[in-house]
Amino acid sequence: MKPFLEDLSLATQYQRFGSCEIEIARPFCLIIFGAAGDLAKRKLIPAIFRLYANGLLPHNFFIYAADRVKIGPRKYHEIIKDALMEAVAKFYDNDSWINFSRKICYTSLDFTQPQSYVTALKNKLPHLEKKHGTGGNRIFYLAIPPTIFEDVINNIGRSGLSVEDKGYSHIVIEKPFGRDTESAKRLNSTLKQYFKEKQIFRIDHYVAKETVQNMLMFRFANSIFEPLWNRRYIDHVQITVSETLGVEHRAAYYEESGVIRDMFQSHLFQLLTVTAMEPPVSFQASRVIDEKIKVFRSIRPFPLDRLNEHIAVGQYGRGKILGRQVAAYREEPGVSAESTTPTFAAMKVFIDNWRWNGVPFYLRSGKRLPVRKTEISIHFKPPPHMMFTKVMDTDIEPNILVFRLQPDEGISLVFQTKKQGTKICLNPVLMDFTYEKEVSHDAYEWVLLDCMLGDQMLFLSQEGVEETWALLTPAIEKFESTARKEMFPNYDAGSSGPPGAHQLIEKDGRSWRHLPIVESDKPRAKCKLKDS
Ligand code: BG6
Repeated sequence: MKPFLEDLSLATQYQRFGSCEIEIARPFCLIIFGAAGDLAKRKLIPAIFRLYANGLLPHNFFIYAADRVKIGPRKYHEIIKDALMEAVAKFYDNDSWINFSRKICYTSLDFTQPQSYVTALKNKLPHLEKKHGTGGNRIFYLAIPPTIFEDVINNIGRSGLSVEDKGYSHIVIEKPFGRDTESAKRLNSTLKQYFKEKQIFRIDHYVAKETVQNMLMFRFANSIFEPLWNRRYIDHVQITVSETLGVEHRAAYYEESGVIRDMFQSHLFQLLTVTAMEPPVSFQASRVIDEKIKVFRSIRPFPLDRLNEHIAVGQYGRGKILGRQVAAYREEPGVSAESTTPTFAAMKVFIDNWRWNGVPFYLRSGKRLPVRKTEISIHFKPPPHMMFTKVMDTDIEPNILVFRLQPDEGISLVFQTKKQGTKICLNPVLMDFTYEKEVSHDAYEWVLLDCMLGDQMLFLSQEGVEETWALLTPAIEKFESTARKEMFPNYDAGSSGPPGAHQLIEKDGRSWRHLPIVESDKPRAKCKLKDS
């Protein structure tokens, strides 16, 4: 474990990682609402623990864990100890746990009861802050169901906890940020009653993934690709987020949400913006956020009378995932036997601006697909005049640049070379860059650290959220009002999605990249017949 530093209130301090330095957070108190829930146990507290183990937290901090369950601090510590042993086994040792556990206080809290915020938070926090020397910096993290976001925000605000007097007071909200345009606007306006925009951190953990952040570096720190990054050279773009998992134990949430709200409104649209945005003037949160908003404003609204030309949806039936038989979505615990909730969607999106006019962006995401894979692939146009076509018996594959976001993070480029020892034989080769796993930080570590440092770069803006809902809400409502139970299930678990998703792209003369790597995906030499 790296030593952590004392007295960070005076100067900015850094922790070294190889040849890089990362700024260490100032003293703080993290108040987690929903601290006994899944998100806190699987993601948040493990991320704090890793930041702590890597020396990225100051000496003076503590976690004030709040949840409805009436358990004592000892029981809560046992729960968290087990969660950490599972989530961060590599970093876990008993001494670190003992030190870390001294920084966790638990309180039971009735989220909807205003008086609890006074007794359990307002009155207790100053005493704890004095004990831990955190000087009044507070982060309120809402790891709770979206249905109670507004109650909790109102209660925090009305008890005066949003006021920044001694230190900062930040609030972190997990997606889904609303469920349509109207609810997103209402949530924003509730927040705005008590918090300024710079105090609000709307999380989408996809934006903080190492490889997503790398898209900006790749595009704007290299000069060779940017001149090609437009409609003249790019034929189309594919964005895929494929999951092998089913709905797991989240039916209550997922039945209300479905894949478009759950994955597209934030995750896939954020991936779209990092691919399509213009170069920001500087690497500052406000500049980057401005450019992202411009992309959302330029997306062509979906034509509601021809929605099936632009969006295809699906729901998984029974099937096999990695050799194991799995249930249909409608058979999952908590899911209605007649559910019409989509677990898969594919979309064709156009960005009506100078750079992207006419270039389709094909997006797809689904549960119970054959592999876990998130990637963005840029499909370049073929050369304008193909002098080899007369002597070749097949078409030559255009260049494809692939950003692998997970797993196996990296970037690869397929390009053509001459096969040695042949007269005319083109050999597509793969130039591949892979991330070293050891040095990377988890997305939740980045968002938590940035929230402590007050850096909004990796967070969503009010306008960005409202723009994406404005695009998707009419389409979602149209689907919901026309969906019939006979339409589903329409893809088997373990398959690559419903037929409609393939038709969506194939009628344009293109095809999806295969989900599992198949023989035909591997770059193969293409030769003049007498050479092969
Ligand atoms: C969440 C969605 O935001 O992202 C889940 O609610 C989804 O349904 C998850 O499984 C995927 O995240 P990751 O980081 O595992 O790709």
